[in-house]
Parts: sequence; structure tokens; C-alpha cells
Amino acid sequence: MIQLKSEAEIQNIRKASKIVAGVLEGLKSFVKPGCSTKDLDKKAEQFIEKAKATPAFKGYRGYPACLCTSVNDAVVHGIPNDYRLKEGDIVGLDVGVELDGYYSDAAITVCVGKVSSQAKKLVEVTREALYKAIDKAQPSGRIGDISYAIQSCAEGNGFSVVRDYVGHGIGTNVHEEPGIPNFGQPNTGLKLKVGMALAIETMVNMGDWRVKLLDDGWTAVTADGKPSAHFEHTIAITDNGPEILTKYG
Ligand code: MF3
Ligand code: CO
Repeated sequence: MIQLKSEAEIQNIRKASKIVAGVLEGLKSFVKPGCSTKDLDKKAEQFIEKAKATPAFKGYRGYPACLCTSVNDAVVHGIPNDYRLKEGDIVGLDVGVELDGYYSDAAITVCVGKVSSQAKKLVEVTREALYKAIDKAQPSGRIGDISYAIQSCAEGNGFSVVRDYVGHGIGTNVHEEPGIPNFGQPNTGLKLKVGMALAIETMVNMGDWRVKLLDDGWTAVTADGKPSAHFEHTIAITDNGPEILTKYG
């Protein structure tokens, strides 16, 4: 059984989400050629500290940083390091915070300077797939509606969807039930209800859908070495439909 959240709980997730949105906004303008992924993690940590929140990922199952930085063929969970971003890279930035016992989680993929037209299209389609998925997060809809929206948008544009990682419920834990796959059929799966808080994540590969895990135990990369993009929002299902809690810009 999925525990539905009260309005007071959603309000707590909303507060944590405003911080997450602010961190991503701040990081976006900080991404430049020459900037290392570790620099980005440090910035994220400073933003989170200033907001008096706690990084959700640091220490989670031994994860060593506040931020996931997934460059080019990295799909998700890239660990910040000394790699310096260069023009033409795409970098996924994924951050989570905890505030007063409630979590929020969101991600964007940023283009570093000018990128190839295919990479730009990949990033745009992955973002578009997220907003199409969120549109389907309606009370009385089903998880499969969200999954199908992601898959049809990605595959309709000639890309593939990741199958080994999924979006998730969120609340007093960063990962809660239900899992939200990037593939599926409409009108299948768990029924969506008012009071659900979900971290919907789109993970789209330019080439084949298969991924592999690097020896660091965290970084997922595409098996074919082609680029991958990632976007994520924490949303709540309300009487009026989906509310994007991590909305930025
Ligand atoms: N948004 C990612 C996820 O839900 C980030 C998790 S990183 C981890 O999987 F370190 F917390 F695992
Ligand atoms: Co997540």
C-alpha cells in the first residue's frame, strides 16, 4: 500500500523542492567549459547549506557527494571528480535535499557551450518527455500512462529509454514506492491518487537502451558509448492535477 500524503506533508515537500529548484538554477549558470564536476558539487553543497537543508544523496548507501554529474555517455549517478567540462559536452545534474524530514529530488541536463544538433535534440526530447509524463500524472490515471508518455515521446524521436533505472515515490524517504519505469502501456499499473508525491525521471539514450555500471559501483553509462540525457521533477498529484514542486526558472 502506498501511503498518501496530507496537505501538510505536501507543504513540507514543497519547501524542500523550492531549495532543489534553486540549486539547479544556480548550478545551470555555473556550468562552463573548464569547470570541473567537483566544482559543481561544491557549489551545490554551498547552496544547500545556505538554505539550511541537508544533502539527500551524501551518505545514501555510501554515495560520496551531494550531486550526481553524468557527462555524455553517463546516464545517471555519475560521481563528481576532477574532469573539466568542455564545449560540446552534455552534463546531467541531479540533486536531492532533506528539510524537516521531507525529501525532494530533481535533475536537469545542461549543454556546455555549443553542442552537436543530435545532442541538443536528445536533451530537448528528454525534457519534453518529462513534461508529457507529468501531464499524465492525473488523479484516476495510472502509472502506465506516465511510462507510456515517456517511451512514446523518446522512441517517436528515434531515441531509446533506459530500463534499468526508474523514477520513484518520495516523501520521508528519497526513494519510496511506486517505481515509475520509462516504458509501459497506458491504462496499466497502479492507480494514481491525490496525495501521491512522485519523482518522475526521464532517462533517454541516443542509441541503444542498454546500460552498464562502472567499477565505481555508481556511474551508469550507455553500453554503446553514445550520449544519454536525464531530467527529473518532484511533483504532487492534487485535486487540480499534477503540481510541479521543483519548478525552476
Ligand atoms: N535522482 C536519483 C535517483 O533517484 C539520485 C539518487 S543518487 C543517490 O536515483 F546517491 F542518492 F543514490
Ligand atoms: Co530520483
